[in-house]
Amino acid sequence: MLRRELPPTAGLPAAWRDFLPPWRRSFARDVASWLGGEWSLLTSSGTAALCIAFNALSRLAPGRRHVVLPAYTCPLVAEAVLRSGLTPRLCDTREGHFDFYPDALAACCDEDTLAIVATHLAGRVADVALARRHADACGAFVIEDAAQAFGARVREPGQAWQSVGHRGDVGIFSFSVGKGLTLFEGGLAVARDERIRESLAASERKLQRRAPLRELQRATELMGYAALYRPRTLSLVYGAPLRRALAREDVVSAVGDRARHAIPIHRVSRFRQTAGTRALARYQAHLEAASDRAARLREALAALPGVQVLDDPPGQAGIWMFLILVLSDEARRNEVLRPLWGAGLGVTRLFAMALPDYPQLKGRIHAPPLPHARAFAARTLTLGNSAWLDPQAMDHVMAALRTRIP
Ligand SMILES: Cc1ncc(COP(=O)(O)O)c(C=O)c1O
Repeated sequence: MLRRELPPTAGLPAAWRDFLPPWRRSFARDVASWLGGEWSLLTSSGTAALCIAFNALSRLAPGRRHVVLPAYTCPLVAEAVLRSGLTPRLCDTREGHFDFYPDALAACCDEDTLAIVATHLAGRVADVALARRHADACGAFVIEDAAQAFGARVREPGQAWQSVGHRGDVGIFSFSVGKGLTLFEGGLAVARDERIRESLAASERKLQRRAPLRELQRATELMGYAALYRPRTLSLVYGAPLRRALAREDVVSAVGDRARHAIPIHRVSRFRQTAGTRALARYQAHLEAASDRAARLREALAALPGVQVLDDPPGQAGIWMFLILVLSDEARRNEVLRPLWGAGLGVTRLFAMALPDYPQLKGRIHAPPLPHARAFAARTLTLGNSAWLDPQAMDHVMAALRTRIP
């Protein structure tokens, strides 16, 4: 019998009726309007959207070669910068957080800076205004990486709520598996400025290649997701490979951060677009249910000394696919994680390490001292916020957190 396995994030389950004809090519338009905008570019992945954005912005500011990234983010972002022929400039994070440390950000920016990538992680919202101030001071663009924040919103004082992604020059989203709404793999770019939109569209035309076999594979994988994304079968595709990686002490694979050899850029079929549009109709209710569950989890976790859950300050309404827990130090985090990781409870780590420490990036990016980003990678773990996290499973998590913290 397969063991019960909870997912590390609260993905929106796919329904078989999502796959029925008629199939329409309207996902980009539907998502744009769901986000409160009128334009978006659908891409084959979030990484593809980043490559297209880097290419498009380089056309508008030729000669600028540096892209500023927070040192704690998805390694695919650094990979996209490198494959675009640009140089990542890693910026340390605030202590106990993933967002830019303001003084370090100032030191990363100069007349070679093409873009600053403000990154909304774990559904939480980054300080885009900070990135904007520094970008304006050196004539750079701001890209909002909202790969983990599709549905998160912000409100400036005196203004209405708006989606993340619209305050940067370019916003990117991901629909890869585990991101909430999924096409199994997919991405999106948004932009307000007409010149930037045109440049993004031109870059997409230039970089995309026909890939019918890969598209067939993604369509099959999306149907596989519909069939297997439930506690009874998830161990086949998630839990078993995770436990094998843990047995090999391969943290990078356990987290799911392994290097991708290719970044294919291709169009998304009508079949997957239609599935996405139909799932989108259920997404708001999914977000609201996840937000209610997360509020209850945060309340329970707040009772534990030495455990901090990243939360939204006023003016931000993030999404709650999973919670990110910050513990006092690495030894304690590892002790808590040991009995939970691989136990089928949806507990894992967001990223295995800070960017320059990934084996696939070692020696390819210059690494200044990054004490806060490294400490954040070492002190954090995540708890999946799926509807299947029942009180019994939560008791296990609470017990591990309680007994291991003095
Ligand atoms: C912050 C961030 N940016 C970009 C990406 C790349 O998105 P994709 O997996 O759709 O290529 C990811 C993927 O996990 C991510 O977490």
